[in-house]
Amino acid sequence: MNKTIGMFLGALGTMVSLSSAAAPCSPERGQKIFESKCAMCHSAKKEAGHLVGPNLSSVLGRGVGKAANFNYSPALASATDTWDEKTLDAFLKAPAATRPGTTMPFSGIKNDQDRGAVTCFLKTQTQ
Ligand code: HEC
Repeated sequence: MNKTIGMFLGALGTMVSLSSAAAPCSPERGQKIFESKCAMCHSAKKEAGHLVGPNLSSVLGRGVGKAANFNYSPALASATDTWDEKTLDAFLKAPAATRPGTTMPFSGIKNDQDRGAVTCFLKTQTQ
């Protein structure tokens, strides 16, 4: 086999195993983290409505700062993008850095797997 192609395939194999190790979807773990770090300000159940922070039921796919009847900061209210796995992951890693002016008083979750688990849990919360 051509040496360059062999190296390329080797690198690809490493990338695939790294990415699958970084993103195991574990809603149970995510729920525990959500309860300890987020639930004092957010509910992920529709009927609970807004708390200090906006309701997070079906937040993935929702426009940033667009839940009805929540008084967002101008930073989120004026956003034009949507929460998906990527935008949510970046926000949860460093809220104030990714959305300057946000009033969410949370410093972020530094651990990639913990953050992935929270996003994974939120994906399951649509009721
Ligand atoms: C101390 C209270 C507090 C904590 C803890 C907190 N948040 Fe928030 N969160 C807020 C507030 C307030 C806002 C609205 C911010 C704004 O308008 O700029 C917000 C906004 C958000 C948004 C944007 C929602 C939308 O409708 O655009 C998401 C997503 C979010 N928080 C997720 C989380 C997650 C996940 C955690 C736990 C890892 C968490 N938050 C922890 C108070 C909190």
